[in-house]
Amino acid sequence: MVFFTGAGISAESGVPTFRDKDGYWSKYDPMILASVDGFRQDPELVWEWYLYRREKIISVEPNPAHFGITRFQSIFNEAIVATQNVDDLHNRAGNREVYELHGNIFATKCLECGMALDMPPNFDLKTHGIPQCECGGMARPGVVWFGESLPRETLTRVFELTRRADVFFSIGTSTEVYPAAQLPFEAKNHGAVVIEINPNRTPFSVHADLVLQQPSGEILPQLFEELQFALA
Ligand SMILES: NC(=O)c1ccc[n+]([C@@H]2O[C@H](COP(=O)([O-])OP(=O)(O)OC[C@H]3O[C@@H](n4cnc5c(N)ncnc54)[C@H](O)[C@@H]3O)[C@@H](O)[C@H]2O)c1
Ligand SMILES: [Zn+2]
Repeated sequence: MVFFTGAGISAESGVPTFRDKDGYWSKYDPMILASVDGFRQDPELVWEWYLYRREKIISVEPNPAHFGITRFQSIFNEAIVATQNVDDLHNRAGNREVYELHGNIFATKCLECGMALDMPPNFDLKTHGIPQCECGGMARPGVVWFGESLPRETLTRVFELTRRADVFFSIGTSTEVYPAAQLPFEAKNHGAVVIEINPNRTPFSVHADLVLQQPSGEILPQLFEELQFALA
């Protein structure tokens, strides 16, 4: 079983999505705030935005959809999570085997050598400026930006698990950002039953075996209860 998730699964926690009308990209220019070029142009601005998002995310909680996955995993040993989210909420909800395709907003790495830097989630940008790596490179958020490739081992492993899946949930993702958006198609082509959970239709909806057009925080706990009832 694969739970493939996008920003929508965290919407009910109060983390804005990117592409909906209240999403981040409706207010900010993604090419500046989420690209290496943008970062090189104005690293302070980009860090300000990430520190602000970190702060916001720390103050929210996982929602019943994240906890619903924990409950599924208590019954199914081979159930994994492949997320495009960087918000750490799957981990905080106690989900196991979480593959973070786009990194984690609380991680920091070196812009030049890529080394992971062990840093607190918050630092005083105004007084101390941007921290540096031993190599002299600037610290940057440990997330995948536009134009960057996804962590290769993680991606390979997730594709492998997707091809073996019997049941594949595609939850809260607009299915527009590749290569991650390829995953539900890959699952379908390899024989999985694919269930989409999203209040809105996506380019994948017509291919899904089942489309549940409801918020994931409502539908996942319900599904789990039905399952328990069926297994009892
Ligand atoms: N929480 C986060 O970590 C976060 C937040 C915003 C964006 N992102 C990044 O944005 C990229 C965007 O792609 P994406 O597909 O994940 O997000 P997206 O913003 O493109 O799409 C969000 C999807 O969630 C759906 N949705 C909204 N509310 C929902 C709910 N309550 N239940 C279920 N679905 C709901 C929307 O209809 C939409 O299809 C990814 O690269 C990801 O890294 C991450
Ligand atoms: Zn370095």
